[in-house]
Amino acid sequence: MSSVTTWLVVPAAGQGRRMGADRPKQYLPLAGETMLARTLERLHLALPDARLALCLDEDDARFTPEQVPFARWQRVTGGAERMDSVLNALRSLPADDDDIVLVHDVARPCVMPADVGALAAAAHDSVDGALLAMPVADTMKRATSGGDCAGTEPRDGLWHALTPQGFRCGVLRRALEDARAHGTLVTDEASAVESLGGRPRLVSGRRDNLKVTHPDDLALAAAVLASQELPEHHAAAGTANG
Ligand code: C5P
Repeated sequence: MSSVTTWLVVPAAGQGRRMGADRPKQYLPLAGETMLARTLERLHLALPDARLALCLDEDDARFTPEQVPFARWQRVTGGAERMDSVLNALRSLPADDDDIVLVHDVARPCVMPADVGALAAAAHDSVDGALLAMPVADTMKRATSGGDCAGTEPRDGLWHALTPQGFRCGVLRRALEDARAHGTLVTDEASAVESLGGRPRLVSGRRDNLKVTHPDDLALAAAVLASQELPEHHAAAGTANG
């Protein structure tokens, strides 16, 4: 994996309105830091030499570079939708088509370094890329418009899509540019690659890689962070280089 550059794209330009908080959720406190700092810390533990593109809202006044532990990173202006933020990053990175790009939501601060490493390895090995995912465990119901059960969906073969998701840079650029050109709104990178006929590999990830979306998720994330055992962390503050 050493002959190609690994890039990390972290979309963090959302407003997180479902949290109902006084600020975007990436700036809510989590175990004494911002959620943004916690998420970047986890990614840095796994891939300390990766190059980071951090997508932020252009009016974001809460960001400070101290929250970034990477030595090489750049700020990218976010777009109207998550996919636009990621696409802006891909358009601005000086990345080769063969380089690996891993996209990870800022709202998943509990991702474990071992999962990031496994995903990066799979992204390197699979032509259509890979995503962290977990098999659906609950019985799945389809609802009527009135909120009653319309039926039970077979859960065999169903997975929850998590992040990171990783691809060759050229594959992901083509897929997201195509989705944007066709006006297709995708909520993860794998869907864009699937639309072009690709079959990204499902990499079974930990169940505690939760996405902080609703107010009570924050306490859950704090409890998960407190329960996880990490390898030793040699944190080093980075500086912006672009
Ligand atoms: O709102 P939601 O949690 O689904 O957003 C997923 C991720 O995409 C978050 O990390 C959020 O900051 C990011 N995002 C973005 N640009 C947008 C909308 C969301 O970077 N326009």
